[in-house]
Amino acid sequence: MASATFNEFGTRQELAEALSERIAKILIADPAHGNFSSIALSGGTTPKLMLAHLADLLKAYRQLVYFALVDERFVPPTDRRSNEQMVRHCLGLENHPKSEFLSLYAPNSTPQEAAKRAEEKLLADEELPFDIVVLGMGTDGHTASFFPGGDNLQAATDPDCKSLFMPMKAPGAEEPRITMTLPPIVSARNLILHIEGSDKRKVFEKALKNEYADDMPIRHVLRHGHANLQIYWAP
Ligand code: 6PG
Repeated sequence: MASATFNEFGTRQELAEALSERIAKILIADPAHGNFSSIALSGGTTPKLMLAHLADLLKAYRQLVYFALVDERFVPPTDRRSNEQMVRHCLGLENHPKSEFLSLYAPNSTPQEAAKRAEEKLLADEELPFDIVVLGMGTDGHTASFFPGGDNLQAATDPDCKSLFMPMKAPGAEEPRITMTLPPIVSARNLILHIEGSDKRKVFEKALKNEYADDMPIRHVLRHGHANLQIYWAP
């Protein structure tokens, strides 16, 4: 079982401020030496406010951070459903071409090829383990693109999975996805789960029950012995 600390806030605004400060402190711990730090972020809607605060805190230090995605909908970055587009926009990275960003989408490629390419790039960049991985969660208990019924769910959540990224198709995911697999997620130096709303709190509590993991795939993270999880929640 992972160790987990539940951080509860009165409002989403308070959560966004506290979480962005915590992340910024880790990412710019050693600016004097110009050391690179790394973070893998989730998509969806929940992170937007927190990322806007983080953008303000990072400012010029953005160029000392290696940004990656926990998962991506397999659409070009120009598509409004692209997680890359959302993260780049919220962090204000569009005007910072020098910032390092690991894209998971690759044009003229299959999701399988794009996942392989991202894996090779991440290994070549030597950015593992991530300083921070921030996960989200859906009301079906998915995290990253570990969706219930996903075609590669078992392989991607295998603690011994040798791939860093895998394609994923699932009934609950609109388009094909690429997901980071379990090992790079749970090996993060700081692993954060950011969820909001009473529905997600109930889902999280249900996920803590000792039931079949693939029904609520976030259980694969919660049950991993090495994961040291900080949960951030606001109503
Ligand atoms: C995505 C994600 C996904 C997300 C959850 C929560 O591409 O959808 O990265 O895992 O974290 O679906 O999404 P919301 O924040 O929109 O509820």
